[in-house]
Amino acid sequence: MNYPVWEVPFIGSQLVIAIIAIFHVLVSHFAVGGGFYLPMAEMLARRRGDLAWRAVVKKHSKFFLVFTAVFGTITGVGIWFSIGLANPEATSTLIHYFVFGWAMEWVVFLVELTTIAVYYYTWDRIPDSLHIKIGWAYAIASWLTLVIINGILCFMLTPGDTWVGVAGSGHETHVFWNAFFNPTYWPGLLIRTLFCLCIAGCFALLTASRIDGDKQPELKADIIRWSVRWLIPLFVLLPFAGAWYVWQVPAVQRHILELGFSTIGPGAFTVVTRMGLMFVLSFATLLAIVYLLAYRNPRDFKLGSAIVIILLMQAAIASTEMTREMLRKPFVIARHMFSNGVRLTQVAGYNAQGYLAQSPWVKASDRQAWAALDAQGAAATNAPDYQAQSFVRGQLMFRGQCLACHTVDGYRAMRGFLAGRDHKGVGNILTMLHDYKDDSPYHAFMPPLVGTPAEITALNVYLDSLAAPPQK
Ligand code: HEC
Repeated sequence: MNYPVWEVPFIGSQLVIAIIAIFHVLVSHFAVGGGFYLPMAEMLARRRGDLAWRAVVKKHSKFFLVFTAVFGTITGVGIWFSIGLANPEATSTLIHYFVFGWAMEWVVFLVELTTIAVYYYTWDRIPDSLHIKIGWAYAIASWLTLVIINGILCFMLTPGDTWVGVAGSGHETHVFWNAFFNPTYWPGLLIRTLFCLCIAGCFALLTASRIDGDKQPELKADIIRWSVRWLIPLFVLLPFAGAWYVWQVPAVQRHILELGFSTIGPGAFTVVTRMGLMFVLSFATLLAIVYLLAYRNPRDFKLGSAIVIILLMQAAIASTEMTREMLRKPFVIARHMFSNGVRLTQVAGYNAQGYLAQSPWVKASDRQAWAALDAQGAAATNAPDYQAQSFVRGQLMFRGQCLACHTVDGYRAMRGFLAGRDHKGVGNILTMLHDYKDDSPYHAFMPPLVGTPAEITALNVYLDSLAAPPQK
């Protein structure tokens, strides 16, 4: 059970995480890509003896220093704050199982910050060859942050049979490496690394676009052709990596993706084909743009085109990340914990003893009142305090089990979903959610509703107040 519960008006707590996280994902892949780009570009500039290009790389290193240290750090901490508030149960679970992983992550991140600072402040102060080595140290450290965090992110989608087998037994830490190197670990790492390398190539294009094509036509054409040759194999590889990733996800979860796609249009394709197709199409577009705009006509290649290419890359990263999130629903840790903090293993217990039985939110006086009402059985509905007590009880049920994905009035608004339904209509939905039959369409995106019949009726009473048209 989540404790505390974070009620964010209108947008909901999940959207707060999503907004911060998407920003962080873009920044972090950008930073790792930059890590590869800087020493590579410096090396090339040095080999060519091109001082103008070297000066541009130096300027970029300041951008990366500020970018990583400020945006990367702030959004990273922002994620911790928001997940800790929105999903305390899942956050605590991940910390318990992966504390060693997070510790490694923080150490590596410190090295990343230190090396980029040293890299920036030692331009022209130490021998070039040593300076380039520091650049590579930055690249490796920033890539290592990805190597580590990728394990935990992939774990949440595919914890793997070994871990699921011991979950809840207290022996989870014995299978740390199984959980870390879980089924989607390698394809996940490959996709992310390819994305980062793409961004490095895009950055080289960006630098080159700013070289004056009339004054230095050779140099501009050289760098652009070099960047395009760097990018093309990556664009070709990425769809294969994507297919490999989806392949590793259990079919049950892939079905969720299918459901998501089936609303887009009628189709006879399987999910995997569709995923592959989407990937291939987006990278074919990038390939075409890069080839036509940059490779064929390097002298006229403009800053605007480079920015468009980078934005397209960012869109591809963001949508891949969304797909991963979509695949995992309604779980926060697949096959273990639902998005609202209820564990699979707790469902039966909550149904028997009551969801609110141990809840720290319930006042002792309310608990007594509910027990007294429950003891009256069906006659309780006639008790004078029945409606008021059920409202309080139902609201706690709603906050605990539904608020993780719904709001009252804003994003996925409960009021909107329930509008016009009467007590029985709302009750039917709750029954479906509670029974959670195998063929229930809700499986794909909602956890089962847990609790005793009296608690579920109380939730029904509370939801009735949202379904009713507003009082004039
Ligand atoms: C894991 C996230 C999640 C949780 C937790 C969740 N829901 Fe949902 N719910 C969804 C999604 C996603 C949809 C579909 C939204 C859409 O169609 O845009 C949905 C749709 C609904 C609908 C409309 C369905 C229909 O058939 O019209 C109702 C009603 C609903 N939820 C009630 C609840 C209640 C009550 C709870 C708490 C007991 C709850 N949900 C918990 C994700 C969730």
